[in-house]
Amino acid sequence: MAYRRVATLDELWDGEMMFLETEGQGVLLVNVDGGIHAYADSCPHLGTRLSQGSLQRHLLTCSTHGWEFDACSGRGINPKTACLKSFAVKVDNGDILIDVGPAGVKDD
Ligand code: FES
Repeated sequence: MAYRRVATLDELWDGEMMFLETEGQGVLLVNVDGGIHAYADSCPHLGTRLSQGSLQRHLLTCSTHGWEFDACSGRGINPKTACLKSFAVKVDNGDILIDVGPAGVKDD
């Protein structure tokens, strides 16, 4: 897979999240303190779209049963065993690009 331009920084301000679809994949984009992160838009519990949930600072909360995730790492906060599928992101000259190749767990 390859990086594709999906949005611009002007469309995703600090503290915001947005849904988009690319290559048949629903994606949740978040901007936390200027860091852009991309996850599969599906809660690992029962698949609710995470873009229907809430983002408060680094805390991403699913709207259905309240599972909580660190929006910067995708790791579960409650429960800790949960983890989001993440996609590679890069920012180039104000453009946000993601690669929806094989989803995985963030290393950082
Ligand atoms: S579907 Fe997200 S917490 Fe249950």
